[in-house]
Amino acid sequence: MWRHLGVLTIEAIMSDTLTITDNRTNKTYEIQIRDGSISAMELRRIKENPEDFGLMTYDPALTNTAACRSKITWIDGERGILMYRGYPIEQLAKNSDFLETAYLLLSGELPTAARMNKWKHNVTVHSMLHENIKKFMEGFQYTAHPMGIFLSTVGAMSTFYPDAKDIFNEDSRKMQTLRLIAKVPSIAAYAYRHSMGLPYVYPDNDLSFTGNFLNMLFKMTELKYQPNPVLERALDVLFILHADHEQNCSTSAMRGIGSSHADPYSALTGAAAALYGPLHGGANEAVLRMLAEIGTVKQVPAIIKSVKNGERRLMGFGHRVYKSYDPRAKIIKEVADLVFAVTGKNPMLDIALELERIALEDDYFVERKLYPNVDFYSGLIYQAMGFQPDMFPVLFAIPRTAGWIAQWEEMLLDKDQRITRPRQIYEGPEKRDFIPREKRR
Ligand code: ACO
Repeated sequence: MWRHLGVLTIEAIMSDTLTITDNRTNKTYEIQIRDGSISAMELRRIKENPEDFGLMTYDPALTNTAACRSKITWIDGERGILMYRGYPIEQLAKNSDFLETAYLLLSGELPTAARMNKWKHNVTVHSMLHENIKKFMEGFQYTAHPMGIFLSTVGAMSTFYPDAKDIFNEDSRKMQTLRLIAKVPSIAAYAYRHSMGLPYVYPDNDLSFTGNFLNMLFKMTELKYQPNPVLERALDVLFILHADHEQNCSTSAMRGIGSSHADPYSALTGAAAALYGPLHGGANEAVLRMLAEIGTVKQVPAIIKSVKNGERRLMGFGHRVYKSYDPRAKIIKEVADLVFAVTGKNPMLDIALELERIALEDDYFVERKLYPNVDFYSGLIYQAMGFQPDMFPVLFAIPRTAGWIAQWEEMLLDKDQRITRPRQIYEGPEKRDFIPREKRR
């Protein structure tokens, strides 16, 4: 009833059209090819009979479906290229800072000096949290995972800013953007201080975006916190590298939730929840736990063997899009050297380097094009800087907020977009009659 044993013959006869012959009916259809894709809705014309629903594509995990048009981020996974708004990630990491990169992602252009000053000022003056948000955060257990605290608090922010529901008002969107970019470091820092049982530290407006974040995390009894400039810059570069990555799992969640016209705080909570998982932004935490479990360089061959036997995955390796070295991982390796010169080498670095060396030579990894991704080395840097592994996904969520908002706004203003609503292939029972409980077997 649900399945047809039909056959389709597909042939691209001209450069911009595709001819499909439905061998069930012998009918031929011509479908426009645009930007290397065909419209999935065009396939609905292909029917066995007039009552037929029409053809769908089956694409679990959306591995070959473009769900939007975007001008924000470009990835060439085969060649290991990543660009924000056309600027290569290597150039941004070398010459820009996180706030400027966030401006670029959000507005489409690098700011002039005057615009940058205004943007910096506006973000800085919005970094304080409402005292009731602080009180709300105090309600969490000390053992609560900081990412759980982070995403719940971002969700709670929608109750503090009901004007955020006015999503088609440009001024309102700008205000929520400022609030989110400015306040996520404060929420992240308070989540950390809370789990350490330490008092929250108010923002210091004299410091840079990342300098102030380090202040809110690590200030103790000193009158003024002075961040180490090398660590401040290293964190800023890591923030640049994590700021956007086109249609990944969390960004798709942001767009999907936003497509129902939920406010940006609610949508961002869903995006952060998606990031939390160990296959996505939780991977750097998982890498550290894996390295700690391996313990010594001598154990590396045994772990590689168990990965090849399918008993576990090598965390921090592999990527849905990159089939060569993740360009962010290359930059992170350089940052690691600078950080370790200040903090001393993370003892687990040698294990990571040996894992990478063996994996890159091994047929299993070579055949599957599995290379270190952004998360493989970032955790080692974060740990050397004094962060506990459970803070790692939170450190990812701070910069990714810029990408999530840019993608959310692009989705809202895109005339092609409607509420996200995929189809399914139903495989459950056909219609049957209800059986009273006493007659069930
Ligand atoms: N270790 C061992 N084998 C792996 C790994 C890995 N890390 N990743 C993929 N493979 C293998 C799979 O077992 C599969 O092998 P098979 O063809 O013999 O069955 C093949 O490579 C393809 O794997 P898929 O799961 O189909 O790849 P997919 O694109 O769905 O997954 C993912 C990508 C989730 C990132 C995966 O590589 C993975 O689980 N990596 C570890 C977790 C990780 O580091 N995540 C962070 C990603 S970056 C980010 O989100 C910021």
